[in-house]
Amino acid sequence: MTTLDIDFVRAQFPAFAEPSLQGQAFFDNAAGSYTCAPVIDRLTRFYRQRKVQPYSAYEASRLGGAEMDEARSRLAAMLGVATDELSFGPSTTQNTYVLAQAFRQHLQPGDAIIVTDQDHEANSGPWRRLAEDGIEIREWRMDPETGHLDPAGLGALLDDKVRLVAFSHCSNVVGEVNDVAAICAMVRAAGAWSCVDGVSYAPHGLADIGALGADIYLFSSYKTYGPHQGLMVIRRDPGMTLPNQGHFFNADSLYMRFTPAGPDHAQIAASAGMADYIEALSAHHGGPATGAGAARFAHDLMRQAELTLLAPLLEYLSSKNSVRLIGGAALDARAPTVAIALAEPGEAVAARLAPMGIMTAGGDFYAVRPLRAMGVDPGHGVLRLSFTHYTRADEVEKLITALDRVL
Ligand SMILES: Cc1ncc(COP(=O)(O)O)c(C=O)c1O
Repeated sequence: MTTLDIDFVRAQFPAFAEPSLQGQAFFDNAAGSYTCAPVIDRLTRFYRQRKVQPYSAYEASRLGGAEMDEARSRLAAMLGVATDELSFGPSTTQNTYVLAQAFRQHLQPGDAIIVTDQDHEANSGPWRRLAEDGIEIREWRMDPETGHLDPAGLGALLDDKVRLVAFSHCSNVVGEVNDVAAICAMVRAAGAWSCVDGVSYAPHGLADIGALGADIYLFSSYKTYGPHQGLMVIRRDPGMTLPNQGHFFNADSLYMRFTPAGPDHAQIAASAGMADYIEALSAHHGGPATGAGAARFAHDLMRQAELTLLAPLLEYLSSKNSVRLIGGAALDARAPTVAIALAEPGEAVAARLAPMGIMTAGGDFYAVRPLRAMGVDPGHGVLRLSFTHYTRADEVEKLITALDRVL
């Protein structure tokens, strides 16, 4: 496997050349990543040259619409789905609330939805609220010590009343990557749909959603090197089965059915820059130049680079008695999203790390239910250390040295 050319990677992110950010090691990536240059360039170009209503005949409008279409078609291809199965909403949370409204209309009292206690609130609360409409909510619980979500636990909850199972590709505090393909297969075999929160996974490589078999898959481009949007893949079924949440005359367009507001044209257009970056990353390292092949190649490249950096961090944290590592310590199953519980509140530790040039954060990260389930007071919170493929080994060393001074 090719080794990641970290200088090439960092040259694609203007933040690394930004004078005000020099000497700052960025470990708050799970909250929002740096933005790659092609996205910034496209956003700027749109605002300068194409900031008009798109899809009309005049040139600026035609170009704006074409760029929005380009973003959808290229990203959908990378995700292994049809172009109209990908839509853009303001954020993942807003997308799940719209989806939950569609399910509210679609389901009957007595139908059941399975949620987890491992999920961020965005893929949990909107579904739990359907209890108010007579929908039975069943909770698939993780191991309170390790945070592991055992598929056997799901098996025990599935029956012919279950219509939907909402779970995450990777929790934003536990960090373990769930076996989405196996779980989606179980869900489908039981006659239900799956809704997968891919927000904490996508920055570490775009998923082949077609291959995973998820019916709905959500992630946020502002954490995936792009602009502030929520990307939502809804496969044709359930997309054409659930009731339309947009204007009645748009009901035949799958990609418009669950985004009732007028979309943010500039940000959708700029999202094509995410595809530019991923393709450039793949091509630079000798991988396929375009499409799904480039996405798979970039995914594996990112993963390998991240694991190399994650190993010493996990090793260091596991050696500290004063640290409770949230989630398991097994490297292979983890994303580089590492939450730790300490005697001191997470936010206070983050504040002590800031003057040492460590950008990180503490708190509950809207994972209030997961933290409670693991016996951590969300008010006290955790310190979260999260990085991506663009992080350098010396930054991880700097982090470990700084942690050693504050822990
Ligand atoms: C795992 C996970 N899911 C969902 C969300 C919500 O995403 P958004 O901010 O786009 O609503 C977040 C945000 O932190 C997250 O980390």
